[in-house]
Amino acid sequence: MACCAVTGRQRQPRGDYSYRLITDWSMPILEPNASAAGASRVDGEGLPDFTTAHYKDAYSRINAIVIEGEQEAHDNYISIGTLIPDQAEELARLARMEMKHLKGFTACGANLGVVADMDFAREFFTPLRDNFQQALAEGKVVTCLLIQALLIEAFAISAYHIYIPVSDPFARKITEAVVQDEYTHLNYGQEWLKAHLNECREELEAANRANLPHVRRMLDRVAADAAVVGMAKEDLIEDFLIAYQEALTQIGFTSKEIARLAAAALVG
Ligand SMILES: [Fe+2]
Ligand SMILES: [Fe+2]
Repeated sequence: MACCAVTGRQRQPRGDYSYRLITDWSMPILEPNASAAGASRVDGEGLPDFTTAHYKDAYSRINAIVIEGEQEAHDNYISIGTLIPDQAEELARLARMEMKHLKGFTACGANLGVVADMDFAREFFTPLRDNFQQALAEGKVVTCLLIQALLIEAFAISAYHIYIPVSDPFARKITEAVVQDEYTHLNYGQEWLKAHLNECREELEAANRANLPHVRRMLDRVAADAAVVGMAKEDLIEDFLIAYQEALTQIGFTSKEIARLAAAALVG
């Protein structure tokens, strides 16, 4: 069983059910991966050539998605603090961590001489941002937490895990530090939802149904650029589902319920 070098986390989830779900979600995937056509040339250690125009072009969008994701995470935690004022201070602390991440990843782009394509990234996050803003306007804290603290955090954890082994030395140091913070954020949402599961179960299921398909589409859209950077889509999906399903388990959902929740990605 693979184990994450950064966190010591088991990469494969407890129980067989999750692995079946991962396989099911991965079945239609025909996108190229890092070892296939479209991937960057790699050096003797399996790292891409960070200096090519091909790599930099893909990185301009990947780096922008990361920067925009950190900005949205910052804004979302501040917003969630308005819905649960007794948590505002803690949420502001999480938001400050996101701002630090944003600065770190901005430096990663600058280090490679890449200008992040922020217009692309802002558009990339539109579906989740719109759903978050609508939930915020309706005072739906459960939906806001599911979108930010579970889905976006699990997406970030997956992207950073898979990026670390193929990153340049400068970005690697930064990303290794960031991924541990993202676990703190995922854990925050997980613990809040666990404490309120009885009253938030229905809203969680509806929010999952409405938003998980967007994550699947985001992974589809990023696949070609991710491959150039050295990240295989199958690995991104697997890591995302592991983090997400582990959080759902900790919140208190049964394996059968989690199977139903994860299946929403296939039908949405
Ligand atoms: Fe972050
Ligand atoms: Fe985060």
